[in-house]
Amino acid sequence: MTEEASSEATLSNLLREERTFPPSAAFAEAANVKADAYERAADDRIGFWEDAAKRLAWSEPWHTALEWNAPFAKWFVGGKLNVAYNCVDRHVEAGNGDRVAIHWEGEPGDTRTITYRDLQKDVSKAANALHELGVRTGDRVMIYLPMIPEAAVAMLACARLGAAHSVVFGGFSADSLRNRIDDAQAKVVITADGGYRRGKPSALKPAADEAIAGTGVEKVLVVRRTGEDVAMTEGRDVWWHDVVDRQPDTHEYSTFDAENPLFILYTSGTTAKPKGILHTSGGYLTQASYTHHAVFDLKPETDIYWCAADIGWVTGHSYIVYGPLSNGVTQVMYEGTPDTPHQGRFWEIIQKYKVTILYTAPTTIRTFMKWGADIPAKFDLSSLRLLGSVGEPINPEAWIWYRHHIGGDNAPIVDTWWQTETGAIMVSPLPGVTATKPGSAQKALPGISVDVVDESGKPVPNGGGGYLVLTEPWPSMLRTIWGDDERFKDTYWSRYSDQGYYFAGDGAKKDDDGDLWLLGRVDDVMNVSGHRISTTEVESALVSHPSVAEAAVVGATDPTTGQGIVAFVILRGDAEQGGDPASELRAHVSREIGPIAKPRQILVVPELPKTRSGKIMRRLLRDVAEKRDLGDVTTLADPTVMNLISDGLSSGKQD
Ligand code: WTA
Repeated sequence: MTEEASSEATLSNLLREERTFPPSAAFAEAANVKADAYERAADDRIGFWEDAAKRLAWSEPWHTALEWNAPFAKWFVGGKLNVAYNCVDRHVEAGNGDRVAIHWEGEPGDTRTITYRDLQKDVSKAANALHELGVRTGDRVMIYLPMIPEAAVAMLACARLGAAHSVVFGGFSADSLRNRIDDAQAKVVITADGGYRRGKPSALKPAADEAIAGTGVEKVLVVRRTGEDVAMTEGRDVWWHDVVDRQPDTHEYSTFDAENPLFILYTSGTTAKPKGILHTSGGYLTQASYTHHAVFDLKPETDIYWCAADIGWVTGHSYIVYGPLSNGVTQVMYEGTPDTPHQGRFWEIIQKYKVTILYTAPTTIRTFMKWGADIPAKFDLSSLRLLGSVGEPINPEAWIWYRHHIGGDNAPIVDTWWQTETGAIMVSPLPGVTATKPGSAQKALPGISVDVVDESGKPVPNGGGGYLVLTEPWPSMLRTIWGDDERFKDTYWSRYSDQGYYFAGDGAKKDDDGDLWLLGRVDDVMNVSGHRISTTEVESALVSHPSVAEAAVVGATDPTTGQGIVAFVILRGDAEQGGDPASELRAHVSREIGPIAKPRQILVVPELPKTRSGKIMRRLLRDVAEKRDLGDVTTLADPTVMNLISDGLSSGKQD
């Protein structure tokens, strides 16, 4: 049998047989968290989270664990802590200053080894520098950096000062950065000349300059990474090595209220304007830290942990910076892409540092599958003892491949469901307890209450499907959308306001055992390579181009990226004919939002299918994009438009 045929056979077996993979007796025996955690949390959910909060260092204890004025939560009210102290200093004080915090691997192969003592000095210097640049408790600082250690240091320096950071993924465009700077009213931006991507320096500073012009930003702190020439604006821009390096390497920190803002992270919603998700300090750190300990079974003395996400996404916040560092782990941080300089780079890194825990996304796993199992087979991956997945549903075939070719048929896989809004993992197996099922995220973690409900909010029975809801507040929940309480209520809490449930926007089903299977977004948000992009955001980028009259965007199933962006556009009558409108429009979206939002395909059409009330019928466009027979067209205002579209497409006017 060829490998392809055999993996197809595996997949169809999976659909028929219900295989489960319990942890080995040895793994279960040594696990950080055992089955009794579920009982403890079920008996006393709030008490359970109070125990988890006690894993952190507080300068003042809380008097009330949860104040719930739905939908506004306050956790650990009255408590005070410093998040950076919890992630750095306390490990040094405990005698672990010489433990490596970060093994950093640059894409070109340069490396840095940073111990907890080094990190304490670096964060203190950066905090002193930010203070000198005018940053005070309560301010917002924008971070627009590649995957270099300064990104983590900058975040922790803000936390140390009680200022909120807002990290913007380095792949976002100048426009995206400017919108976020304006919305957050940031005072300082931390950026770099550039970073390395696919073997070449990739500039950041020019985009930062374009974004900052005309905003209220007072100072820009610039890290030198690539050494390429950059323009520095006199009086505004300063180099990190000039300002940070000369600071004292100690910093007297204050402690802050548990509800002091820690960060704002922007994410796509169903409108063109991204939502600034606000997270605060005590509850967020409690759940990021506890879930990292429980779900990854992390042993700080012996594990080498690697989360391959970018720090610009919530996964990087919670599972590179706050969760792992609060637990005192040794971790790997990698700057570049998985195929530079060769397609075995990930496996080479795992072999080199003897990584024990790997956390990555299904889209990456599917890319590795495409490249072939012979590539990881050339490396020693025997150090791996646990694998994690996040960002989108993992298909059973990818799950089995991951287990077999990467995990040596031995390492448990934790499929973790959560969101920027939830701040930390909510649904996942516990690796020492759960018999895992390929493709299922399975169960709410101890202390978390989820359900799958129908339109009316009634729980569906086992075997049924519906919408995923969170039925009780949790410590790391978003507190609001920055500056927009109404949108916060409307987006997450209005759909099931009678029940008081949080609406996650994901479809899900319960299998016969009551285990959860996530089915993807039910709103106009696409999931491309594990990144959330809204259809409206791409549509408004498209119509901002002078030659576009109208645009409709759908996410079409894609074998590698989960979903691919397919755009249907109507060109303006006066738009210049000829040229290559599709590639021009793809470049335009890339400039407006960033390369991650570049449509996979642009189809120029004469009409869009609309209902009588003028709503675009995306379902039909999705049928076209996924090359399916059309569904019901009877509600179309003009049932002939679908013919027009298919005629237009077959006459070759497509990307
Ligand atoms: C999806 C990423 C299925 C889901 C941490 C969610 C998943 C959105 C999973 C949040 C998973 C994330 N299984 N779907 N294990 N993890 N998702 O905010 O649609 O970037 O609503 O947070 O990703 O994406 P976000």
